[in-house]
Amino acid sequence: MQQVVMTGASGGIGTLLRPMLHELKVTMRLSDVSEPDMPRADGETWVMGDLTDPAAVARIVEGCDAILHFGGISTENRAELIHEVNVKGTYNVYEAARKAGVKRILFASSNHAIGFHPRENRIDADAEILPDSIYGVSKAYGEALAKYYWKKFGIESLIVRIGSLFPEPKDRRMMATWMSDRDMLRLIERMLFSPRLGCPVVYGVSDNRESWWDNGKAAYLGWQPQDSSEQFAAKFADFEPDDPNDPAVKYQGGGFAKAGHYED
Ligand SMILES: NC(=O)c1ccc[n+]([C@@H]2O[C@H](COP(=O)([O-])OP(=O)(O)OC[C@H]3O[C@@H](n4cnc5c(N)ncnc54)[C@H](O)[C@@H]3O)[C@@H](O)[C@H]2O)c1
Repeated sequence: MQQVVMTGASGGIGTLLRPMLHELKVTMRLSDVSEPDMPRADGETWVMGDLTDPAAVARIVEGCDAILHFGGISTENRAELIHEVNVKGTYNVYEAARKAGVKRILFASSNHAIGFHPRENRIDADAEILPDSIYGVSKAYGEALAKYYWKKFGIESLIVRIGSLFPEPKDRRMMATWMSDRDMLRLIERMLFSPRLGCPVVYGVSDNRESWWDNGKAAYLGWQPQDSSEQFAAKFADFEPDDPNDPAVKYQGGGFAKAGHYED
């Protein structure tokens, strides 16, 4: 049975996934810097630790086969904090993985690494990196790191540009970007058990009616999302035309593309 580490396990995605992880038939070691709100369940192993501390990260990943790297700052913030946690912290994870002989890593990237692509463009894994925030820049760094460790050391990574992984879409944009927790679980299953992973970029999105992203280049993984945001369509049924000149409407990154620079 594979030993799998999940960083950021106290966060939103970790909390959604925890009750389903037993379906993967792996042994999970969960990790975060903060205690989970949801009580620790039987069979869950926890190792608390800060991603910015290389020695702590080495303890977290010791002896594991694969890492689901969800830990980090998950929205725009001070550049210094993002550098510490998302840039240095992700480097610490890859470097500890290399030293510990870890074979596979899921890197939780974001649509904000490509957020300045217009919504009219259907983009795929080869789309130009166009971050809409310092947060998005840090995710672009993580993607580059994953590719470096693949080419240099043969560590396979699944780079997931997650759209919006929440229980349900919160606004009209998320009707296009929403990803269900079940579809993420199915993608993790492919990441762990595909005979060939390599280092693909996959857009983390369900089978939504409106979509800007094409996962054709990762079809060899055999991942097919089963859910759709359409079940929530009634929430956003009131017809109000969008302002096409509003950057939050024009660009895939939505409000991140519109927002000013955080440090200003
Ligand atoms: N939820 C989404 O829709 C979405 C979309 C795109 C990308 N992502 C990415 O997926 C990952 C998980 O997202 P989420 O929504 O669960 O975010 P979240 O903010 O709810 O959870 C992130 C977790 O990381 C932990 N963390 C922060 N700093 C840390 C540190 N120094 N050391 C150890 N742990 C630390 C936090 O305690 C938190 O529990 C993040 O990397 C995020 O950028 C999420």
